[in-house]
Amino acid sequence: MIKNLKNVKVIGTGSYVPANVLTNNDLEKIVNTSNEWIITRTGIAERHLAEGNEATSDISSKAAINAMEDAKIKPEDIELIIVATNSPDMLFPATACLVQDKIKAINAATFDLQAGCSGFIYGMITAWQFIVSGFYNNALVIGAETLSKFVDWTDRNTCVLFGDGAGAVVLKADKEEGILSGHLRGDGSGADLIKIPAGASKIPASHETIEQRLHYVKMKGNEVFKYAVKYMKRSTIKALEKCHLSIADVDCLIPHQANIRIISVVAKVLGIKKDKVYINLDKYGNTSAASVAIALDEAVRQGKIQNGDIVVLTAFGAGLTYGSIVLRWNK
Ligand code: ACO
Repeated sequence: MIKNLKNVKVIGTGSYVPANVLTNNDLEKIVNTSNEWIITRTGIAERHLAEGNEATSDISSKAAINAMEDAKIKPEDIELIIVATNSPDMLFPATACLVQDKIKAINAATFDLQAGCSGFIYGMITAWQFIVSGFYNNALVIGAETLSKFVDWTDRNTCVLFGDGAGAVVLKADKEEGILSGHLRGDGSGADLIKIPAGASKIPASHETIEQRLHYVKMKGNEVFKYAVKYMKRSTIKALEKCHLSIADVDCLIPHQANIRIISVVAKVLGIKKDKVYINLDKYGNTSAASVAIALDEAVRQGKIQNGDIVVLTAFGAGLTYGSIVLRWNK
């Protein structure tokens, strides 16, 4: 039964990163790179890596428990779980089902969502639609990755960039304003720019795919860079226009944490001051679908976001995909 349209707001945030830290100096011992190159080209100083048996569902569950505690909601009251990830535990079943079992959210519907590094924003907008329509009253949205297990640790072009982690929000129908607008787009013409070529239906896993290292992330970094700037700018402006706001109204911009140079150019082309842009990629690297979720949780817990603030989340990623969401913070 579809009820009336309603407001939807974030009532809790949470995050979790694995304990194991890999610094740039550690990386100097693994591939031909330097701390100086990584810092100046990317802004990343260290990243957290999952242990061998620590899966995406494990770190997702920890972030989810954190967010549910913050929201003061019991697992059995969660109605929908969406896990946005590019590094699921297995091709199937969905990681969301494994998370549901781990956190004992026995009454929830569950599915995974794969939209590159934009996955968390795709997930929030999807959950928002479920709640606005009255289909569900609340949802747990998780962005989580263990991409360190899909990165080629002999390829210096990619292995220095990525880190593991998970972030989560609980969304709920409410009388007060919360999510104001959103914008999502895909551009499959850029599918070749970041991909894991083998291990699925197009090129199933075989001895040859392993020998040719086709089960690892391949990326054309330079080209991705250009699209990242263009698409995050476009999406942020479109999402703001949809709720009749402008960049001058934004109190906090949380961009996908891929590269400090991308973030700086996006801030410049949008005309937003650096002190309104939340950055934490020095500590975590690019955690893909988890990056905006972790950054949102940190920004809130550090008091960088206050009630009444206009907050914009924006991301781009493999697919290509891009998207933004505008919130009036009201927790
Ligand atoms: N250490 C030392 N040298 C390196 C390293 C490294 N880790 N990596 C590359 N280099 C070298 C290259 O080999 C190249 O050497 P050459 O000139 O002798 O050929 C030189 O550095 C310059 O390489 P570029 O690729 O031109 O370096 P660039 O300044 O573009 O930085 C980077 C590369 C960091 C990857 C950048 O292009 C970038 O951040 N792109 C965006 C990537 C991104 O955002 N991906 C996110 C999406 S992921 C997802 O959605 C799952």
